[in-house]
Amino acid sequence: MPKDAAPWIVPSASPREGTLSPAPIAGSALRPRLLLLHSESLAAQAIRQTLLPRCATIQIANTLNQVHTCLAQESWDVFLAHLNPEEKSGLESMRFVQGSGLLLARIALLDPVTSALLAASIPLELDALLLPPLSAPLLRETVERCFVRVLQQRQEARALAAMREQILTLKEGRKQWLAERETLEASVMEALLSTLAMREANCVLHALRVQAYASYFARLVNYPESLRPHLEHAALLHDIGKIGLSDALLFRARIFTPAEVERMRSHAEAGEQILRHIPFLRPAAQIVRHHHERFDGEGFPDGLRGEKIPLGARIFSIVDTLDAMTSDRPYRPAQTFEKAQQEMERCAGSHFDPYLTNVFSQVSPASWINLRRQVEERATQHSPRILGPQSLYSI
Ligand SMILES: [Fe+2]
Ligand SMILES: [Fe+2]
Repeated sequence: MPKDAAPWIVPSASPREGTLSPAPIAGSALRPRLLLLHSESLAAQAIRQTLLPRCATIQIANTLNQVHTCLAQESWDVFLAHLNPEEKSGLESMRFVQGSGLLLARIALLDPVTSALLAASIPLELDALLLPPLSAPLLRETVERCFVRVLQQRQEARALAAMREQILTLKEGRKQWLAERETLEASVMEALLSTLAMREANCVLHALRVQAYASYFARLVNYPESLRPHLEHAALLHDIGKIGLSDALLFRARIFTPAEVERMRSHAEAGEQILRHIPFLRPAAQIVRHHHERFDGEGFPDGLRGEKIPLGARIFSIVDTLDAMTSDRPYRPAQTFEKAQQEMERCAGSHFDPYLTNVFSQVSPASWINLRRQVEERATQHSPRILGPQSLYSI
């Protein structure tokens, strides 16, 4: 019997031995720290002697408690346990290591082999299963192979953790960027609205109401969700172009001359020109430009007809008209919602998109009245200032 073999380990009993290299596996310059559970001292020493030249350290545990202590106190690369049908410590320790989340190779040595022990080993998802007769080269090769694999697994786990960390960092960065962008966009909206309010104070409540109406109506007609913020921006700023109009024109109860009508109409193009220079408001600028187009092509500024008018502008046109008709004007009192809806229904196909008007006619006046009340209640609860943390825009 060779010097390095104990009675429990035969030098070359495995039929696979001829195909296995007893030399260290390439790339495994590091040597494993091995924890060995074996209740039989002589057998444990024989295994230790066989593996010692290939291991950084070998610690022998005889009981489950010792395994727990060793795992708690030090880190290990390979756990080799003797599974014996007479003792539960082998199986229990394997189950413990399996459930611990520790990334180390788990090798079981079954001796003697029974069908019950084999069946119990399957759920353990072991890295290797050694059966008697156990040869020294096979034992060494198995430990080294499992050690190399666990090193690779750890490397992969580190790479995965680093990747996750990177993704989290990117997500956090994006979240922060989005929050900053949102704040910046809100500030721009506040600034534009306050500019408009300085010219025409009454327009703010109108802007808030049509924003609420447009948002509500857009859902009813399945306007794409991704486009709704642009529609809301357009609703708030649809008359921003009026800041270029003279007081004499802006505050007249009626417009009489064709030249005055043309000047008043210029606010749609002027609004687009103001907003198109602000990247996040470019889509809204298109709606603002076309918010006075008519379905029959008789609107302004471009006389677009039918579906050539952007859908957002067709939606907005309806809610803008509704709010105009149901609000007091210097030259006429507000109409009821019922009356306004009836009149607008008569304009389906001429002024308004007939499909949208059909949906609009099915909305109960109470829904619009409720929306109007909500907007106005919130507006009165907050500071009437536009700018600031309790601005009208942010309600
Ligand atoms: Fe307008
Ligand atoms: Fe309006």
